[in-house]
Amino acid sequence: MKNHGTDGDWDVITGHADDPYQPRVEAVYEDDPATWRAVIGEELWFQFGLYDDAPSSPRTLDEAGERYFDRQLDLAGLPPRAPLGRILDVGFGWGTTLLHMARRYPDCPRIDGVNISGPQTRYTADRLARAGIADRVRLYRCNAKDIELIPDHDPPYDLVVLRGSIGHLTPATLEAATKAISVRTADHAPVVISETLFTIPLDAYRSAIPDEVDRLACGNRKTLAYLMDVLERNSFAVRDLQQLPSAREAVRWLAAVRGRIERHVAAPAPRPFEELRDVADNLSAALRAGTASVYSVIARRLP
Ligand SMILES: C[S@@+](CC[C@H](N)C(=O)[O-])C[C@H]1O[C@@H](n2cnc3c(N)ncnc32)[C@H](O)[C@@H]1O
Repeated sequence: MKNHGTDGDWDVITGHADDPYQPRVEAVYEDDPATWRAVIGEELWFQFGLYDDAPSSPRTLDEAGERYFDRQLDLAGLPPRAPLGRILDVGFGWGTTLLHMARRYPDCPRIDGVNISGPQTRYTADRLARAGIADRVRLYRCNAKDIELIPDHDPPYDLVVLRGSIGHLTPATLEAATKAISVRTADHAPVVISETLFTIPLDAYRSAIPDEVDRLACGNRKTLAYLMDVLERNSFAVRDLQQLPSAREAVRWLAAVRGRIERHVAAPAPRPFEELRDVADNLSAALRAGTASVYSVIARRLP
């Protein structure tokens, strides 16, 4: 089914089975993007940032977010203008990573983005059209479990990106998505992941603020060991694994976001921003204690 925004297009892909968790995730991303911009930065990067200790250390969330994604693409061996035939971005947020890759890889003719959020997809379609790159980027409002239904099995993906999306997936959706990605990915192609993962068994973890609600639809926590196992079972070999950003940088990013909620979102804040404030507190405590870390994972599809 083809949909038209004021300025751009996207397709809707409906799978054979329901994901009962999908409405929970959709509810997180329903608020006005203007409010999100006030909270996470004008460019809407939403997966931490790198500050580094250099004198040119970036100060803004936008700079830190971009620096982090660029570092991951460098780690994947994909410098600017690397020859890529087709890219998949799973959980593209408000399109920031799609836009960035379209500019970093100007010769890549096809970038596919997958997202289940209607408002984010609409916003991204308009954003890409305004940037003049809508012809190279195709948007699919599609659950990650249904990636196999994306049109055109040929060519396979030369790069797959999952940043911040795995945290929202139920184990069943993660398993289905990884299996589908494995089918659709070229031999040796890198998968670039950034995710918050737990380093202790989940039944031993207690959040600082008790878990009375499923904040930001991130309640399906995952350990690093579990994610490694899912990747290996689906023919991916991990080539680079780092705590990136460091705990200190991740805490700095969370503090910046938390401060912007206090300053820019009028009380009572919409539910996602209330939850984001609590997540910032919980996660900062876990990062400091070393019970959770933000990991950068670069895996490759085994032939
Ligand atoms: C933290 S945000 C992504 C940030 C973005 N990738 C970045 O690097 O700035 C997580 C995204 O995953 C999407 N998502 C969550 N669950 C999904 C699912 N089951 N299928 C497709 N997209 C999903 C959300 O709608 C959201 O856009």
